[in-house]
Amino acid sequence: MLNPLSQYMPAALLGILVVLPAQAAGDPVTAPYAAELRAVDPGFSGFSTAQGQALYRGRFTGGKPDTPSCTTCHGDNPRQPGRSLTGKALAPMASTASPARYADPAKVEKWFGRNCREVLGRECTPREKGDWLSYVRGQ
Ligand code: HEC
Repeated sequence: MLNPLSQYMPAALLGILVVLPAQAAGDPVTAPYAAELRAVDPGFSGFSTAQGQALYRGRFTGGKPDTPSCTTCHGDNPRQPGRSLTGKALAPMASTASPARYADPAKVEKWFGRNCREVLGRECTPREKGDWLSYVRGQ
């Protein structure tokens, strides 16, 4: 007689096979930034959620006065919706609350460009982008 568990085994094994390569390849959203860093620093060993949190929550003076922080629009809690300056609701930034986010690298880059200039008055570096994504997505 067949072990009744055996019919579940393939699914369980498949789950392991799907998860392991994804981990081995790293996070696809931050991978382009990690590759950029590794090209100039072979010792690069990963992004910092602490630095990402500091960038998400920090208040800066280099950008526009009405947007001193990422939290100005995205809110203090990345699991909660944010609000643009014109009052438009913004989906939460945390991946647990907004699984559809960060799927389009062009969109991610477009908004990093725009928002980093508004808040910091300059582009974010690849390391800052990776740190920021590691922090907010993991919330
Ligand atoms: C003036 C309001 C405002 C501020 C301040 C702001 N953002 Fe945004 N952000 C938006 C809007 C609007 C969108 C596009 C709509 C959306 O994705 O909800 C967006 C989207 C994004 C996205 C794309 C997310 C995705 O789903 O692909 C990233 C990345 C991002 N912001 C990063 C930042 C960072 C980093 C900061 C701080 C340095 C910041 N934002 C500050 C308004 C803002």
